[in-house]
Amino acid sequence: MRTSPILLTILMTASVQAATPTDLMKGYAAEASRQQAGFTPAAKRGADLYQRNFGISAKMPSCTSCHGDDPTQGGRHSVTTKAIKPLAPAANPERFTDRAKADKWFGRNCKEVLGRDCTAAEKADFIAFLTGGR
Ligand code: HEC
Repeated sequence: MRTSPILLTILMTASVQAATPTDLMKGYAAEASRQQAGFTPAAKRGADLYQRNFGISAKMPSCTSCHGDDPTQGGRHSVTTKAIKPLAPAANPERFTDRAKADKWFGRNCKEVLGRDCTAAEKADFIAFLTGGR
């Protein structure tokens, strides 16, 4: 079967269109609600995740160790001292517009700080916090 050129154009346009932080949050929330019926993201839980000292790693006990106390400000890597751009989309519109990028860094950073993967619920909460529920 041949795909019509018009359909092809629509498909290609859709694939390059960036996702929004709300899209990503909804995606994680949908995953979370499969394990936990009626789950809704909570900025307050996200703030706790952001600030909590997990005590797993001495060099990076919390998300704030690298991302700073205020996510609308830039941070600094606690080991390499390299500057990190703000995590809050209000201050850095590139944030949470790419699910693959978010997955990669949640994967790495959660393992470092929590000693395990973050759950889909935690990821949704985290984005709820960063998108303004402060
Ligand atoms: C050891 C330093 C460090 C710690 C601690 C850290 N991060 Fe990060 N994080 C980074 C770096 C480096 C990047 C990638 C550089 C960039 O995107 O500016 C990043 C990027 C991210 C991103 C990508 C966001 C996007 O869409 O651009 C997410 C999500 C993230 N971190 C979540 C977390 C969470 C959740 C925690 C706490 C559990 C955490 N980070 C703790 C260093 C850290």
